[in-house]
Amino acid sequence: MSTNNIPHVAPERLPELLKAIPKAELHMHIEGSLEPELIFALAQRNGVSIPYASVEELRKAYAFTNLQTFLDIYYAGASVLLQEQDFYDMAWAYLERAATDNVVHTEMFFDPQTHTARGVPVKTVIDGLHRACVDAKDQLGVSAALILCFLRHLSEEEAFAVLEESLPYRDKFIGVGLDSSEVGHPPEKFARVFARCRELGLHLVAHAGEEGPPAYVWSALDVLKVERIDHGVQSSKDPALMARLAKDRVPLTVCPLSNLKLCVFPDLKQHNIRTLLDAGLVATINSDDPAYFGGYMNENWLQTFAATGLDARHAWQLAANSFEGSFIDASTRKVYMDRLDQAFAQFA
Ligand code: ADE
Ligand code: ZN
Repeated sequence: MSTNNIPHVAPERLPELLKAIPKAELHMHIEGSLEPELIFALAQRNGVSIPYASVEELRKAYAFTNLQTFLDIYYAGASVLLQEQDFYDMAWAYLERAATDNVVHTEMFFDPQTHTARGVPVKTVIDGLHRACVDAKDQLGVSAALILCFLRHLSEEEAFAVLEESLPYRDKFIGVGLDSSEVGHPPEKFARVFARCRELGLHLVAHAGEEGPPAYVWSALDVLKVERIDHGVQSSKDPALMARLAKDRVPLTVCPLSNLKLCVFPDLKQHNIRTLLDAGLVATINSDDPAYFGGYMNENWLQTFAATGLDARHAWQLAANSFEGSFIDASTRKVYMDRLDQAFAQFA
């Protein structure tokens, strides 16, 4: 199947189709899946105090004006994570939720430096998250992998230190990424550590062009040599960059509800996902930090389609892009693409 021969789907059945199609999630931060209820439960279990009186009060604080106002609350929320079981419980809750959205494969970011700064060993973090990934395959039929992110507001030296501490568990993560405060921390700040990760055979991705300029996307590609760009929505300001992303089929892991909540776009109707797809880019839809931005995977798909008028052909393309952009092997990709076509056939 391709976008030229997908069966006609009646517009009123589009939401049902969006929920049913198998998809891969390529951009979500596992610490961003911590729901307020779990934050309170873990705070109590671990004797950690948090500066909010109730779940409702914490949720009310989720009114962000830009990336930094979100990150301040997100790092505070992660402070309740101390034991291996905490990391397992957080990841398991997300994986169960993802399965109900027909996410069949997920590549989850984690931020070890957020935890090592509080004295939690990297081993504790990775063991808990990885155990949830193993159980997800066995019990939910969801394949899940981990991508270790360096915090870009910290130094490259600190990135090297956490990489070193993580290498004994190299078999439990598939790649590295770059996240946290973007503006003022360009990709080239991490040129050496990404070169080292490349030598180690790790997959490479980086957040770029979320709030930062197209120049950051160029340097993520040309200096860091990343295989995917996380967000990348600012690329539409630079026609030469758009042409490069299309020509090289560089996936963009776009997160519409995140962009809305962090005021990257004033309104979902003005989101540029359609422009990206129409320019032939390998754009995908993802949830970023679903507990903070008001929606998991299907909610991102449903709200984006409703606001921008995307249709069933776009849905097929977005799901196909998610499998093309993922780090699964060719035979697994074929299995998922066949499942995608079967799901469409049921809506003909
Ligand atoms: N960490 C968690 N979510 C993030 C985002 N949207 N951008 C940068 N860093 C993040
Ligand atoms: Zn992100």
